[in-house]
Amino acid sequence: MRKKIIAGNWKMNKTGTEAASFARDLKIKTISINKTEIIICPPYIAIAPAYEILKESRVKIGAQNVHWEPSGAFTGEISAEMIEQSGCKYVIIGHSERRQYFGETDQSVNNKIKQSLTTSLYPIVCIGETLQQREAGKMKDIVKTQITAGLSGISVEQMKRLVLAYEPVWAIGTGVTATPSQAEEVHHFIRELLAELFNSTIADSTPILYGGSVKPDNVKELLSQNNIDGGLIGGASLKVDSFVELIKTAEQF
Ligand code: PGA
Repeated sequence: MRKKIIAGNWKMNKTGTEAASFARDLKIKTISINKTEIIICPPYIAIAPAYEILKESRVKIGAQNVHWEPSGAFTGEISAEMIEQSGCKYVIIGHSERRQYFGETDQSVNNKIKQSLTTSLYPIVCIGETLQQREAGKMKDIVKTQITAGLSGISVEQMKRLVLAYEPVWAIGTGVTATPSQAEEVHHFIRELLAELFNSTIADSTPILYGGSVKPDNVKELLSQNNIDGGLIGGASLKVDSFVELIKTAEQF
């Protein structure tokens, strides 16, 4: 059985002080949780204050991006080793906002995954189609290309550390969620693809999260689908109470 994962992607929200206060509250309110993997992904400079509070709790920390080189003249960038040392277990790679606004490509996603895997980090790799692509009937082709190119050269052994997040771009921050059956269809397709690219054990064991307007009132139905293992949550992860509600729902599975 794959365990449920609830990951909060804060995007460009919360200062270090706000992150620390969230972390204190979250730590208390999740004390009774013992199955669900809880992750928060603060902005880089809020990672350390959050980690300081959460290091002895079950809440794990992730970064939202990483550079593909180990170090060097890349002004403004952050390396996998720096992220690892700041207390993170996870790193989000290839979020659609990075693809859309910062020129992220399947090739850079692939390089970033490989660089992250030289450290102890667990990459959370995002994929998903735009509305235009879905309407043109290209949804599966897009997802297939993103996964095939993004995971190119990754070994079966390395795949054991990967988490995938299917995030249809049209559902992110829009209030429009994919219906549970729309999401399940793609998650099932992704598992078939993983079986083809790797093997059936990897297909069965890789956690596949859904992301895009996940809220306390739709999370239960989404998590009830066979192939949805959790959520990557933007808006609803910014308030402790709604985030904790999502975690408590996941804990029931
Ligand atoms: P949302 O964002 O929950 O606000 O739609 C999800 C994401 O971008 O990861």
